[in-house]
Amino acid sequence: MSYTLEEVDFLRSHRAQIAEVTAELALTRRSLIADTEVLRRHFGGHARAVTELVTARRSSAGKLPSDWLMCGESAQQATPPVVVAVRARRIAEHLGAGARVHDVTCSIGTELPPLADAGLAVTGSDLDPVRARMARVNTGAGVVVADALVPALSPGAVDVVVADPARRAGGRRITRPDQLLPPLPALIAAHAGTPVAVKCAPGLDFSGWDGPVSVVSVDGGVKEACLYSPQLGGGERREAVMISTKAGTGPRLDRITDLSGDGDGESLTGPPGRYIIDPDGAVVRAGLVRHYALREGLWMLDDRIAHLTGDRIPEGRTGFPFIEQVPLKKLKAVLRNHGCGALEILVRGVDIDPDKLRRNLKPAGERPMAVVVTRIGSAGVALVCGPRTGGVDRS
Ligand SMILES: C[S@@+](CC[C@H](N)C(=O)[O-])C[C@H]1O[C@@H](n2cnc3c(N)ncnc32)[C@H](O)[C@@H]1O
Repeated sequence: MSYTLEEVDFLRSHRAQIAEVTAELALTRRSLIADTEVLRRHFGGHARAVTELVTARRSSAGKLPSDWLMCGESAQQATPPVVVAVRARRIAEHLGAGARVHDVTCSIGTELPPLADAGLAVTGSDLDPVRARMARVNTGAGVVVADALVPALSPGAVDVVVADPARRAGGRRITRPDQLLPPLPALIAAHAGTPVAVKCAPGLDFSGWDGPVSVVSVDGGVKEACLYSPQLGGGERREAVMISTKAGTGPRLDRITDLSGDGDGESLTGPPGRYIIDPDGAVVRAGLVRHYALREGLWMLDDRIAHLTGDRIPEGRTGFPFIEQVPLKKLKAVLRNHGCGALEILVRGVDIDPDKLRRNLKPAGERPMAVVVTRIGSAGVALVCGPRTGGVDRS
């Protein structure tokens, strides 16, 4: 639940007291009644707003600055700053430092600091006055209340429009581009003539987009697909950016584009090598599995299925040591013979529910293993493997 403007002002002017009073409160479901009593004593009618703020801050710890104003929904919608940094770098690279960026759906301001850190001149706006006020407090940037469909700045005053339409309304997931808030086609039309960078759901069908589409993952989880105007690219149509934050030396980026070539339609298939490799979701969603296989010296098990195989695991990634390929019918007996215990199951290209399969297999042994259930040609097969290995970042 969001706030009223008056509540935002209250939260802002009571920062220190809120931090002091809530430091020791668990604010869990079990403690909520007692905690609410304490909050009511200190903050009267603002207890609900304080609870919302502190809960949102705790749930976004590590993603958003701990002293920002936010509500649960805006914290959840916030783009991770490492992902915004990828967008910021691309814009600065193609339009130059100092380019004027208008984030037309800025919410609480999450994208503004990483864009400014890349040397860009930022302005934010949002239709929701409460979010706009929070963004102003959080970032100190120029933020106005405006409808993204009615450009607030004259076209010549903006070099690029950044937008991140909301993909949920009333708890419901929106999948159609024309139902996003604001709707994607209307948004693009409203800013015709100005380059745009529009963050979208990774599952969106972006085949009709004529500029670069960049799919970004963080630690293997796909976060977004961003549609860029052609002016914001160097001729590539698809890009996958894999961000790893676990190296301990700051985020590490691995980028691949369709400019690297995909073997010109030649078959890249072959029998399993030493390892089975499940490519990062960003590579899969960007349609760059073949490009990635070629770059890494891997090959495919089937031309149409995204599982890869090879004799080495790409640096910083994980894979499964291949043991044997068996028909699905024999999988249970084979795993029992191997003494299989903890089992990781990957399914792609066959209609099998991994949870149901696990219940069927009932692995009860001691040996950790993995099984990759996939389709090779027209047959569903199981690739019996050792447990996931690799992932050591040697940079
Ligand atoms: C997904 S959120 C943006 C999150 C933001 N990029 C971040 O990282 O925090 C979408 C925002 O669009 C705003 N919005 C919805 N319709 C709008 C419109 N027509 N004009 C401007 N903002 C709009 C919502 O109020 C919401 O703050």
